[in-house]
Amino acid sequence: MINDSPSPENKVISLEGKKIKKIKYDALNNPEQFWSECAKNLVWFKQWDKVLEWNPPFAKWFQDGKINAAYNCIDKHLKTELKNKAAIIWEGENGESITLTYNQIFYKVNQLANALKKIGIKKGDRVTIYLPMIPELPISMLACARIGAIHSVVFSGFSSQSIADRANDSKSRIIITADGGFRRGKVIPLKNIVDEAIEKIPSIEKVIVVKRTNREITMGEKDLWFDDFIEKESIYCESEWMESSDPLYILYTSGTTGKPKGVIHGTGGYLTHLYSSAKWVFNFTPTDIFFCTADIGWVTGHSYIVYAPLMHGVTEIMYEGAPDFPDQGRYWKIIEKYGATILYTTPTALRAYMRYGDNIPNSYNLSSLRLLGTVGEPINPEVWLWYFNIIGKQNCPIIDTWWQTETGGIMISMCSGIENIKMKPGSGTFSLPGIEVEIVDQNGEKLENGKKGYLTIKKPWPGMLISLWNDDDRYKKTYWEKIPNSYSAGDFAFIDKDNYIWILGRSDDILKVAGHRLGTIEIESAYISHKAVGEAAVTSKHDEIKGESIIAFLVLKSGIVSSEQLNKEMKEHIRNTIGPIAIAEKIYFVNKLPKTRSGKIMRRLLRSIVNKETIGDITTLEDEASIEEIIYEMNELNKYL
Ligand code: WTA
Repeated sequence: MINDSPSPENKVISLEGKKIKKIKYDALNNPEQFWSECAKNLVWFKQWDKVLEWNPPFAKWFQDGKINAAYNCIDKHLKTELKNKAAIIWEGENGESITLTYNQIFYKVNQLANALKKIGIKKGDRVTIYLPMIPELPISMLACARIGAIHSVVFSGFSSQSIADRANDSKSRIIITADGGFRRGKVIPLKNIVDEAIEKIPSIEKVIVVKRTNREITMGEKDLWFDDFIEKESIYCESEWMESSDPLYILYTSGTTGKPKGVIHGTGGYLTHLYSSAKWVFNFTPTDIFFCTADIGWVTGHSYIVYAPLMHGVTEIMYEGAPDFPDQGRYWKIIEKYGATILYTTPTALRAYMRYGDNIPNSYNLSSLRLLGTVGEPINPEVWLWYFNIIGKQNCPIIDTWWQTETGGIMISMCSGIENIKMKPGSGTFSLPGIEVEIVDQNGEKLENGKKGYLTIKKPWPGMLISLWNDDDRYKKTYWEKIPNSYSAGDFAFIDKDNYIWILGRSDDILKVAGHRLGTIEIESAYISHKAVGEAAVTSKHDEIKGESIIAFLVLKSGIVSSEQLNKEMKEHIRNTIGPIAIAEKIYFVNKLPKTRSGKIMRRLLRSIVNKETIGDITTLEDEASIEEIIYEMNELNKYL
């Protein structure tokens, strides 16, 4: 599968070209001094006293430094020529377009910040944001950041139950939402979903509603229209001086248990990592038009739509809708229309576009592009080459960026702005300056090049999560105890003979479906909450477009018989408990699940069966006598997969 030839070269060398060795050398030899130099690129109200306070596994970066994220994204540009520059060019799915300058964003953020303060929201309070991809989303995040409230954005594809779980865990005081959002021409009734959720969230005092559609909605006692809420507010609100390690936000993400984890990111360290990684990887310049296609509901949008590009003062494109609506050339049309210079997207989107054929992108002028990026899942070498040849016309380097919600920012990628290396399709190349990656076995022993093992990070880095919300213990256990003295990423990887890093996919029970992160156990819990289901096992099957697709095995409670109707009900149930992204491609109703003697479901075995791979070692199966039966049953199922 892995193909390390051909090896196109990164032809772009910036003015800083060839500095990479020196940067990496400094980072390795004196990391604190190195990160301290990086932090100086930000505006601090008060300089830190100590670069790193490391009480493993808890890090405090830039201790006693005072900083504000919104100030670094907006205010710092207002005394420069960037003041009236376009910060966000927003395009709605229906083609409408709005351009917001840095100054205009400043006004809106300040007004919202003042309005939030007026209803009593203060530093440390949690605000849930459930918005589609409209400018009010980054504006709301920045308004929270300005007053020190902690935002918790919930992806607008999640269900009311997911909102309730997250808002209850964080004890949010308000929710900011919209009357609806557009997706493939249809209106998603976000306000109704929130109405259902708030019945289950006692801590919610107010619901602020952005008017995005002309849908009739019912406004209840707690509801306020966004425009009315901010209208009379002053356009200046003092920025809160945040301690560097104060939380900036919580972002819930799937883990290996049923309950999503509230990843907490701090302020000064996180922003330092973002500022530096964006400089090295994207080499942002004032003339860049950056198009990141992620949804802000996921970490890529938080870091590389909201915080990093705005700190750098670039102009960015924010697109509301689906990549194939109203036709299969939507991204290319957007690139042509606004002259995008950098595209940052997912392998899933590229696989779909590749399938639509070359004529579509070839009919647009994509010559403004100078750099192409991918994120979120492994990219197949043939898709990489298509991206390089057809979209980039062999003129744009490709950055394959590996990172996670927990890492805050990019950890592995070619640094297009500062290095000139051979690219290998499918490899992220090397770790960023200051990031020490090691591939180890389960005992933490470093593996030699070429051997597959667990991807770990050896030293703390500024963008790392500060903990999990209300769960320091789970933070320790999940990330720092699986492999001794290292951060364990949960991915398999290997390093080749030229020291290039290759990511091979998750080593745990997390799935990446169309780049979206979902936990198998989270989906299983959702199935089990249905009255007909006794047991559930979820695994994934290789999918040509989405990378992975979900396959569920359900054991029904006694007396309940499977039927097409039940199958449909299951779909609806998953849509309502998690959201449409977690709906299984296929459900199999079975009599029994393969388990180990200690009662653990052998998902590995199921995964092998659905992917038609060799089944491997089954000696740990619980019921030796039934092995034949289980394999027979699974093989029977296999015929239909
Ligand atoms: C996967 C997304 C291969 C990986 C930013 C990781 C990747 C998980 C890549 C985190 C890549 C991310 N190549 N796999 N370039 N980037 N991944 O938290 O399995 O949604 O652990 O963050 O995505 O997903 P998350």
